[in-house]
Amino acid sequence: MANTRKRKDAAKLPEWDPALLWYARGISEMQKRPMTDPTSWRFQAAIHDYALSLDPMATPGNKAPGAADQKRFWRQCQHFSWFFLPWHRMYLFYFEQIVAAAIGKLGGPADWALPYWNYSNTSNPDARRIPKAFREAKMPDGKPNPLLVKTRNPGVNGGGIVGDDDDVDLRQALGDRVFTADPIGGDPGFGGPKTGFNHSNGVVGSLEAVPHGSMHVAVGGWMGGFNTAGLDPIFWVHHANIDRLWTVWQKRDPAHHLNPTLPAWLTAVSFEFHDAAGKLVTMKPAQVVDTTAAPLLYDYEDVSDPLGPVPGREGVTVSENRPIPEMLGATAAPVLLKGSVATTSVAVKQPTGPARESVAPKKTYLNIENITGKGEPVSYSVYVNLPAGADPAQHRDLFAGVLPMFGVTEASETNDQHAGSGLHYALEISNVVKTLQARNEWTPENLQVTFVPKHRAPGREGVAAASPIQVGRVSVYAA
Ligand code: C2O
Repeated sequence: MANTRKRKDAAKLPEWDPALLWYARGISEMQKRPMTDPTSWRFQAAIHDYALSLDPMATPGNKAPGAADQKRFWRQCQHFSWFFLPWHRMYLFYFEQIVAAAIGKLGGPADWALPYWNYSNTSNPDARRIPKAFREAKMPDGKPNPLLVKTRNPGVNGGGIVGDDDDVDLRQALGDRVFTADPIGGDPGFGGPKTGFNHSNGVVGSLEAVPHGSMHVAVGGWMGGFNTAGLDPIFWVHHANIDRLWTVWQKRDPAHHLNPTLPAWLTAVSFEFHDAAGKLVTMKPAQVVDTTAAPLLYDYEDVSDPLGPVPGREGVTVSENRPIPEMLGATAAPVLLKGSVATTSVAVKQPTGPARESVAPKKTYLNIENITGKGEPVSYSVYVNLPAGADPAQHRDLFAGVLPMFGVTEASETNDQHAGSGLHYALEISNVVKTLQARNEWTPENLQVTFVPKHRAPGREGVAAASPIQVGRVSVYAA
């Protein structure tokens, strides 16, 4: 279609490709607008989440929209919910319209589209470096570059590799065969749990966990928290990639990778935004299931399957009557993560309930629940039965998954929008269990769960120690 916007991979574009140069110019325009203008940079970021006390752009006497408008339009981001993907898709769509209109006024290209950052591209050795245009102090014309945010993690703006292989690993998310989570304890689902309009609590969906949350934390700085993430221009480019991965997921296994069909997802909830003219608009998930159809009309340069054919899954059908997860054991006391290795243990019993009768191949999930804390987030890697003092890198077969701490501060707050119950991850450990059983190292009465801090960037150790994270409970479920 003629007016379809084509979103391109920023990691493959020349440094100041027009897509990036005009993005920077459009942002500069938006940054000139007062925060009361819905098309301003700061209003757009506040739609995601906002806290005046944490606003790095706040000025004394800073004019903000009235309380009623703030309540209605700000702090709307949908996380830990099956609305995570459709809501962020809508958010990006209107943002792209607003940037494109600003670019149009400046005489830029009418078909400008938001670039995406494919950090998981193993054929591009620079894929995990933040694209160069986001690291320069100045634009080519010598003006300050709005794409640079100085507070990112050490090394990021120097062109270092961001995060590690686990942070961009797509196998868990793209391999998830269902969009919506099981009842608590089981598969977190590609897109997250069934919820109403949601701002906190609920298990984190598999795409939202990795690479979404892990890369938020790996970039760090404003990207590390809900309140400030939208102020970093890389946020939008990161989310364009997450949005692209939704399409990749659907395409890789069209028979099984299906979006929800329930009206509770498609049409029951409307979300409000503002268009490029600053006019109020509403949208429902049913309108955004296909990016190439109106009203969206955009597509991605590359939506090929990075993992190749779905391995060994032929003949397995996904049934609506999936087994109800059964809890097989849980820790009695919380664990405190202070930036060094921490271990807890769980006693796991034989399933007696639904998991025993389960016909489908039984899966085991390690649930890390009620993760709370304040301050700048640091992520952890989780291992099962890692020998004490061992180098985790030598025991990759015991690796259970990543715990990105993106949103931990917000999920720990207790107020009208947050229940304070913290983050909840469900990591599938079926393969680890099989490995341990095959080696006669499966110790159900005393399963060791080890948390290893991820702070490879020099200077991160202090951050982790300064903002301890509490894990309320670790539990094991079979489904
Ligand atoms: Cu609503 Cu990446 O965040």
